Amino acid sequence: MRVVVDHVSKTYTDRGGRSVDALRDVAFTVEAEEFVALLGPSGCGKSTLLNVIAGLLAPTRGGVWFDGARADGARGANARALSAMVFQEFALFPWRTAQKNIEFGLEEAGVPAAERATRARHYIELTGLAGFETRYPHQLSGGMRQRVGIARALAVEPAVLLMDEPFSALDAQTRQLMQEELLGIWDRTRKTILYVTHNIQEAVYMADRVIVLSRRPGEVLADVPIELERPRTEQMAGEPAFVQAAERIWGLIKAQAWAAIAE
Ligand SMILES: Nc1ncnc2c1ncn2[C@@H]1O[C@H](COP(=O)(O)OP(=O)(O)O)[C@@H](O)[C@H]1O
Ligand SMILES: [Mg+2]
Repeated sequence: MRVVVDHVSKTYTDRGGRSVDALRDVAFTVEAEEFVALLGPSGCGKSTLLNVIAGLLAPTRGGVWFDGARADGARGANARALSAMVFQEFALFPWRTAQKNIEFGLEEAGVPAAERATRARHYIELTGLAGFETRYPHQLSGGMRQRVGIARALAVEPAVLLMDEPFSALDAQTRQLMQEELLGIWDRTRKTILYVTHNIQEAVYMADRVIVLSRRPGEVLADVPIELERPRTEQMAGEPAFVQAAERIWGLIKAQAWAAIAE
């Protein structure tokens, strides 16, 4: 599914009536089956943008289109039906087993129990959770919990997977393994993925393109193609295409990072 973000701006108004510009005139396209990383500093509006794309939050200006159909604001039902979100905090129900967490969206959609179990089984296998179905979230490691988050999102069979810093709470080794696994899952399911991160290495390692956002209000600073073959391997981190892309992106956000430290 092709996702068009068409000049989206978002201004929040808090209870005191003060307004916060979170996004300014953000425009880009994610092609069907593409893996695009959205990179920007903390507080620049990344989660806001994902929520607008998911149809959960109305933009102040502009719109979002899924394969040519309006998917923002009042038409957000379109986006809600066609996308699924994986959150930074694992956002699992503590009183439900792994399998029951994975089945949650299917329950909401009114899918009968037998079919829920069959579909959950498929995504349990795909995400490497076999043997852990009956565990509760507190009985799972961070990596396993996020597998549940991914399986739950995939179980509703969305065309678009929206991922909000999904591995940022994991230790470095687990994060590396989960990145590799996600690329494997993407290869097998061919979803359109929009992956939010503030980690340059992670963005370059995984994505076809990296869209770099400025500090708040988030604006697109650059759309950087990553010219590395697939499947990606860890060794590619030493290749000129990797190093040059990472340096270019760091160059773009360096000045902004300095300004943030100086504040
Ligand atoms: N509901 C809200 N009301 C007012 N301001 C908000 C709200 N949600 C987020 N913000 C502000 O909008 C900006 C962008 O937030 P967010 O999208 O969460 O950024 P990021 O995900 O890039 O860290 C921040 O300054 C944040 O404080
Ligand atoms: Mg965020």
